[in-house]
Amino acid sequence: MFAATPLASGRCADVYALGADRVIRRNRDGGDVRAEAELMTYLRGQGYPVPEVFRADGPDLEMTRLAGPTLAEALVTGATDIRSGARILATLHHRLHALRARLSPDPAARVLHLDLHPQNVMVTADGPVVIDWGSAREGRPELDLAMTALIVAEVATDPTSPVAAPAGDLLTAFLAETGPIRLLDSAASLRTRTGPLDPRRVAQAAARVRTAHG
Ligand SMILES: Nc1ncnc2c1ncn2[C@@H]1O[C@H](COP(=O)(O)OP(=O)(O)O)[C@@H](O)[C@H]1O
Ligand SMILES: [Mg+2]
Repeated sequence: MFAATPLASGRCADVYALGADRVIRRNRDGGDVRAEAELMTYLRGQGYPVPEVFRADGPDLEMTRLAGPTLAEALVTGATDIRSGARILATLHHRLHALRARLSPDPAARVLHLDLHPQNVMVTADGPVVIDWGSAREGRPELDLAMTALIVAEVATDPTSPVAAPAGDLLTAFLAETGPIRLLDSAASLRTRTGPLDPRRVAQAAARVRTAHG
């Protein structure tokens, strides 16, 4: 059905071009994308920058093809500097958490992305756009901020990563934007259950978030 080579691949999905203007994101584990698609449509209606969804069918999500690098790529090439990158992440959190939750009756609950790191932001001519909503749920905004800090810290504490040093700088700059990270322990236990690293590595990353506050 598709050309053998995806346009891009992440940890969970392969993304295939569908002409010049659309892509299909296919979950490799076959997981259904309907909830994700409904959330993206809601957020777009609220003016939040997400790709327009055209179709959700089992593991396949058809959406706007965004033009531009991921924020991770833009940070590596220097197209975006570290401080601007940190501001972009903090602002995307702030805007998301300003919206009403869609499902929860708890007035304090907000939509949380829970995987909002530089590879899930695309830098387009119309501004940054957030992709990869498969981890989203509703809850306390502080958990979302803590997850971003923790995920960036995972890279910063990985001695085999060629971008460990800039990730450390990004973490410091992000924390300067957000102030103290409050739900770090909850984020670490969620990440231990859902992320790619073992508990020892997640604990190392959490310790880095704590010390990065200085
Ligand atoms: N709408 C899109 N337009 C262009 N490229 C995209 C789009 N959505 C995703 N991508 C590319 O595909 C990669 C993987 O998509 P993503 O949704 O993040 O999947 P994963 O869950 O596997 O990380 C992204 O990092 C990005 O490079
Ligand atoms: Mg991703």
